[in-house]
Amino acid sequence: HRPVQIIPSVLPADWANMGQCVKDLELAGVDRIQFDVMDGNFVPNLTFGPEMISACRKYCSVPFETQLMVSQYNCETMLEGYVEASKGANGEPGVVIAHAEANVHLHRILGKIRQLGGSPSVALNPHTPMDMVKDVLDMVDHVLVMTVNPGFGGQAYIPTMLNKITQLRKTILDNGYDVDIEVDGGIKADWSLSQCCAAGANCFIAGSGMFAYPTLKEGCDALRKVAND
Ligand code: DX5
Repeated sequence: HRPVQIIPSVLPADWANMGQCVKDLELAGVDRIQFDVMDGNFVPNLTFGPEMISACRKYCSVPFETQLMVSQYNCETMLEGYVEASKGANGEPGVVIAHAEANVHLHRILGKIRQLGGSPSVALNPHTPMDMVKDVLDMVDHVLVMTVNPGFGGQAYIPTMLNKITQLRKTILDNGYDVDIEVDGGIKADWSLSQCCAAGANCFIAGSGMFAYPTLKEGCDALRKVAND
């Protein structure tokens, strides 16, 4: 079974103190930190660009993960900046997630992320079938199954995504691919996480489900406990 990874989203953080937030998240024991990049085009919300991510690098040493909820044009023209900003303190590859729906040249984008020194991953919105990525599973390190419609934190988990996770895990295993399955959206330390884990997910992204606790460590521990039960 693939190792469980607890990955907070910075969406609910105090953005005026983002450096302190990523430092606190590292102390809370998270495995990676996800930056939700939104361009107001692919999703009806606007967050931040590569500078916010690279500004956080000096405050912590945990790996970063950048989810590019952006149009094809923004993904292609700014990819190098996002791959660089996502790298570790010693230049190790950061996870960079391209959306299957945004990129008609998905194969090329995923290859470019790897060539630029990133860890390529692909995301699927709730309506997108797993088949849309089966021909690039040999190129990625992770597949992100969205369990909400992207754009906002605090939304309700969509349980019908379980079939997709199960199908994906079977396809990965049948083909001997080395790919993690991430879930993102409405994931809490409850049945939502345990269902996804049982279906084959091993990386759990949580925003509100992490920040709702009195301390981030309690949030991280609660999520990890459910995943490991
Ligand atoms: C959706 C965002 C959210 C965020 C997690 O575009 O990507 O899924 O990561 O938010 P919660 O955990 O509050 O649903």
